[in-house]
Amino acid sequence: MAQIAPSMLSADFLHLEKDVDTVNSCADIFHLDIMDGVFVPNISYGFPVVEAIASKAVKPMDAHLMIVHPEKYVERFAKTGVAMLSAHLEAMDDPVSVTKLIRSYGMKAGIAFNPDVPVENVFPYLEYCDFVLVMSVFAGFGGQKFIESTYERISTLRHEISARGLDVMIEVDGGVSPANSSSLVNAGADILVAGSAVFRSDDPVAVVRAMK
Ligand code: DX5
Ligand code: ZN
Repeated sequence: MAQIAPSMLSADFLHLEKDVDTVNSCADIFHLDIMDGVFVPNISYGFPVVEAIASKAVKPMDAHLMIVHPEKYVERFAKTGVAMLSAHLEAMDDPVSVTKLIRSYGMKAGIAFNPDVPVENVFPYLEYCDFVLVMSVFAGFGGQKFIESTYERISTLRHEISARGLDVMIEVDGGVSPANSSSLVNAGADILVAGSAVFRSDDPVAVVRAMK
């Protein structure tokens, strides 16, 4: 069964505890979008918010770094209790050393990449990853439209991972909702990130259940 990772970017920041409770009660993973206004043209939130979520999170936290120089912050995210940490392929000079650094703190290491990055570009690094994060919109904002070519990119990756006998999970992020979740899982996705579909709904729990 796919794991559901609600993106806290779309949470109600005035009532964050309520949305943290929702994730604890019905979902699998907290997806935390960290944006620096340099790698992406948007700024999200930083450590005070991550620490507040961590203080109430029962489910594991997954931080998606959309920042330049991600290696600078690996230790700090480890200290906040993050279990999964991904950085963008486009933002790393040396993905092998960054993923090794992430694993050295006991976290699962992931490589994220935007829809215009050929999926083959991540192949040399699969051995160093516990998961890959396939963007199904361009990183930077919640609420964008899902890009249909994602299905093919996921199945290409899934075939490569299987052919090499690797144990790498595929996470998909952007425009995910109950309308496309089963097709994404059929293509080979293991973790579905959804922000607006969950938190902009009147019944987030029902949306998570529908995706599962
Ligand atoms: C976009 C972020 C996503 C975003 C998803 O840069 O990586 O995690 O929050 O939001 P939705 O599900 O609304 O596309
Ligand atoms: Zn994300």
